[in-house]
Amino acid sequence: MCVYQRARHKSTSFIFWVDNWPGGCYEPRMSTKQQLLIYLKEGKGTWVSGEFLAHKMAVSRSAVWKHIGSLKDDGYVIESSRKRGYLLRQTSDLLLADEIREGLNTNVLGKGEIFHFRETDSTNIRAKYLASEGAREGTVVVAEKQTQGRGRRGRTWFSPSGEGIYTSIILRPPISPNEAPKLTLMASVAVAEALLSLTSLKIKIKWPNDILIKGRKVAGILTEISTEMDRIDYVVIGVGLNVNTPRKGFSPDIAHTATSVFMETGKVFPRIALLRAFLEWLEIYYEAFKTKGFDPILNRWKHLADIIGRRISVDLMDNVRVGKVLDVDKDGFLILQDRTGTIERIISGDVTLLSQE
Ligand code: BTN
Repeated sequence: MCVYQRARHKSTSFIFWVDNWPGGCYEPRMSTKQQLLIYLKEGKGTWVSGEFLAHKMAVSRSAVWKHIGSLKDDGYVIESSRKRGYLLRQTSDLLLADEIREGLNTNVLGKGEIFHFRETDSTNIRAKYLASEGAREGTVVVAEKQTQGRGRRGRTWFSPSGEGIYTSIILRPPISPNEAPKLTLMASVAVAEALLSLTSLKIKIKWPNDILIKGRKVAGILTEISTEMDRIDYVVIGVGLNVNTPRKGFSPDIAHTATSVFMETGKVFPRIALLRAFLEWLEIYYEAFKTKGFDPILNRWKHLADIIGRRISVDLMDNVRVGKVLDVDKDGFLILQDRTGTIERIISGDVTLLSQE
């Protein structure tokens, strides 16, 4: 069935600058621009003649030149010479769909459509729209910048251009809505695993889904669901990960609580590698969730969170609970015991650690 049209949609407000967007027929055929990039990459730092490229792709040399210009617009650094042709000096820093796909080791996530925005309101908003229009499981939305990045509990998510990963993944799990909190915990484990596999940083999860380095937040997850009767129609897993934001790059209200991979390692980190790793880990855990259930994920989550037995306070919007964490139960709820011995099951809140016991 034809669902998508590959068309450049650029509104005057610049909000929806996206390389492809629903509206017609999408054929997953390789475009001339994509072929051109492959030939340039195959050149491995050597010059590739315009004549060779034109011949290979059966287009005119001026068409090659036009597509080179478009690749440059996408952030590829390409040298041009009348005599020698074209040389790819550097690939793009942008989280472009084709760059994400290259070497992505998944079967479903990112294997269908990937929507890349230079700027958008919120990738979760875009992903929910796509899902409501029938987008398949595994569809990925990614933005360089969000103007209305959304956090949990009505907060905003600071989303400066080109510094972080702002992505939303569409899943269609065959589960009932009350199981949705499990997917948030699953996503937090996947983010933690991605960071652990590519850096030597000490990563911790704070219930339910904050990813911390030395007590400061490096990533957050916002899961949104749409239900039909007693089943889930779709889940959007939104992840914000601070990758290359410098200390002074954070807004004053979060400067003392947020961190980035760059701040912790002192090195600019390739965002694309982290995004791919996250998609791969998310798929591994999602498959495990569907075939083996939630237990293996919960065990890994508990190991990474190290919260059981700790004294904490939980801000529940209308009031605060203080107590000792007895467990995180099989549904992902926090089991808290207060001083009087009363035990409470908590679904959502902001946790502060009070002691190390
Ligand atoms: C939190 O408050 O910790 C959750 C933050 C989630 C932010 C991400 S960024 C990508 C996706 N799009 C959004 O608008 N929010 C999520």
